[in-house]
Amino acid sequence: MAKTKSVFVCQNCGTESPKWIGKCNSCSQWNTFVEEVVVKSPKGKTAQTFFETESVKPELIKDVPLSELSRIYTSNTELDRVLGGGMVPGSLILVGGEPGIGKSTLVLQMALKIQSKKVLYVSGEESPQQIKLRADRIHKDAQNCLVVSETSMEKVLGHVKNVNPDLLVIDSIQTLSSDTIESLPGSVSQIRECTGLILRVAKETNTPVILIGHINKEGNIAGPKVLEHMVDVVLQFEGDRNHMYRILRSIKNRFGSTAEIGIFEMLGDGLREVANPSELLLSHHQDKLSGISIAAAIEGMRPFLIEVQALVSTAAYGTPQRSSTGFDLRRLNMLLAVLEKRAGFKLAVKDVFLNIAGGIKVNDPSIDLAVVSAILSSNIDLSISPKICVAGEVGLSGEIRPITRIDQRIGEASKLGFDQIIVPRLTKGLDLSKYDIEVIEVSKLEEAFKLLFA
Ligand code: TYD
Ligand code: MG
Repeated sequence: MAKTKSVFVCQNCGTESPKWIGKCNSCSQWNTFVEEVVVKSPKGKTAQTFFETESVKPELIKDVPLSELSRIYTSNTELDRVLGGGMVPGSLILVGGEPGIGKSTLVLQMALKIQSKKVLYVSGEESPQQIKLRADRIHKDAQNCLVVSETSMEKVLGHVKNVNPDLLVIDSIQTLSSDTIESLPGSVSQIRECTGLILRVAKETNTPVILIGHINKEGNIAGPKVLEHMVDVVLQFEGDRNHMYRILRSIKNRFGSTAEIGIFEMLGDGLREVANPSELLLSHHQDKLSGISIAAAIEGMRPFLIEVQALVSTAAYGTPQRSSTGFDLRRLNMLLAVLEKRAGFKLAVKDVFLNIAGGIKVNDPSIDLAVVSAILSSNIDLSISPKICVAGEVGLSGEIRPITRIDQRIGEASKLGFDQIIVPRLTKGLDLSKYDIEVIEVSKLEEAFKLLFA
């Protein structure tokens, strides 16, 4: 006989408590506990299983047969790249991102384009008519995808059984609910239960499943952390909603590297894959403008050149303003302090605005040098030659620190027709003869400034 029991579950981290508490002991969030009813099945045999002979025996790792994972290509180069070369059969892929960023568009576009595969698209958010309208915008002639609007987990399982798809898409996991659990869709126990069921379907039928997930206000995927542990791949779709560019990052990947990113552009008829990001991220001014510097950055595994723009003006109010888009504000403050101390600029009485072109958020520390040179260029109102790009991390004492994969950056700058690139002093000798660009090594900020503003 199944027994019902109710527990209080933290909606932030999934911690359970027998009674309501105001502050979660585990994640320190306030007012996150919600009562949820769980149906406990009769206790399983625990001690007995120890004595039972298992049919599966441990084997030596060298004897494990290696069946080549036949990956399923999504016919979307950027997505395939982030997945590590297509989807692995039976894998669970979670795609997270802010509302309206384009998760449904990305996945539907892939589902429509993937040929000779039966795709079942389950949406708990849109009706088949709405999906059809979207599909018509994206891809007019591919109609091989099956769509169904459903929020009951049991009915979804029924559809999967009837249709037997090659790929299952769930949009979104937060809208599904199972009858065995008496809590609202989107609650921790529903998400855990539904993901568990989907995981079993995926592993037993060897069908890859794409789950779309919402994110909470902190920017993490909503629901318990166990969700991220259960799935094989976690992808995050991000970007500035006011810009067209979107970046797909891999946060976890059991079958590939997490260093890869995919870049897309949101157009009127869906997402376009951006194969050469540098050409889009540089604005190619003809006239000389101050406050602009070009960085040879690397995001994921790909080098690209990106424009850093700065505006320095006299502070109108007592406290100077610091504002930054696409670059960490704390790091900007640190770089300003370094500029003040090492180069003697009175930036305390200046407002500083910084912008990374294209609305892209760059995490690569090697854009430091471009940030400080753009700020200085705006401050002294002297433009930097559009034929020079820079790469280097700036240390607290004004030294230019070495950066990773320097040859890739030099190669990209050379390919895009730059004449000179300023880099940190190279520790190991590089074969620079194959590049059609002058590589200038510096070890201090002052040296770089002398070269840029001579
Ligand atoms: P959507 O995929 O619904 O976002 P999510 O599922 O992440 O909530 O995308 C919504 C936005 O994308 C919407 O504001 C409009 C825009 N969009 C386009 O610009 N072009 C298109 O072809 C489509 C389908 C959407
Ligand atoms: Mg959506």
